[in-house]
Amino acid sequence: MRSDERKARVRKVRRRLAQSGPPWTRDHERDFETVTLPERDCDLLRDLLISDRVEAVVEVGLAYASSALAIGEALVTVNPPQPRHIIVDPFQDRAYSNVGWDLLCAAGLDSTARLLREWSSIALPELVSEGLLVDAAFVDGSHRFHEVFVDLYFLRKIVRPGGLIVMDDDWTPSVRTAVRYYEKHLGWTVIPDAFADGTRRHVGDDPAAELVPRCRAIRLPESLVEPPFEQFHPF
Ligand SMILES: C[S@@+](CC[C@H](N)C(=O)[O-])C[C@H]1O[C@@H](n2cnc3c(N)ncnc32)[C@H](O)[C@@H]1O
Repeated sequence: MRSDERKARVRKVRRRLAQSGPPWTRDHERDFETVTLPERDCDLLRDLLISDRVEAVVEVGLAYASSALAIGEALVTVNPPQPRHIIVDPFQDRAYSNVGWDLLCAAGLDSTARLLREWSSIALPELVSEGLLVDAAFVDGSHRFHEVFVDLYFLRKIVRPGGLIVMDDDWTPSVRTAVRYYEKHLGWTVIPDAFADGTRRHVGDDPAAELVPRCRAIRLPESLVEPPFEQFHPF
């Protein structure tokens, strides 16, 4: 199948998912809308990955696969010789009845995607041991502070120097606080305006708090920064 045909197939599945929702959802009110990355943010994620000409991407958190399909569309568009999309999610079968993975298969992306059905705190260090190096990561797994912090600890060894990390739910204090450590101490820089046209949320869902873009794109430094422990500043 030609690259434009593969792209059209992915776009069709993405469109149907955004318009009609997945064929199955958990029995929670408005679960798809609450859990999945909105279409607008998916488009911005896709465009950012295309402009970085990514060939390999790690993703944490599959759920309903809106973001995974957007990443898949970016890889099909860049069309490298060996595209790779490694996804980590321990609950895809137990909690999501495999619906996200089935959507990736329907889009023809299962030939490039690999799903690791493990906690990210287990899977990511295994990927480090394998020597995996990727161009970008998208993080939308557990939102507990310590788990996001650990995801980022390992991702800085998996994403190549100068690569890209995109965080979902940067409006949650737990995610923002974890990211702040890496920005303050390890030279990670925010890509301004990357998600300025995306959806916005109040920090902590407090209507009196600042309204911020839902996603945050970060550029890693060109070499790994390891500051002396004496230079630690509370963050
Ligand atoms: C907000 S959803 C992801 C939504 C997805 N990006 C989409 O567009 O549909 C969070 C996902 O993270 C997964 N998850 C929760 N804890 C995790 C962990 N420790 N490691 C990896 N994935 C985890 C959940 O199973 C769930 O599928």
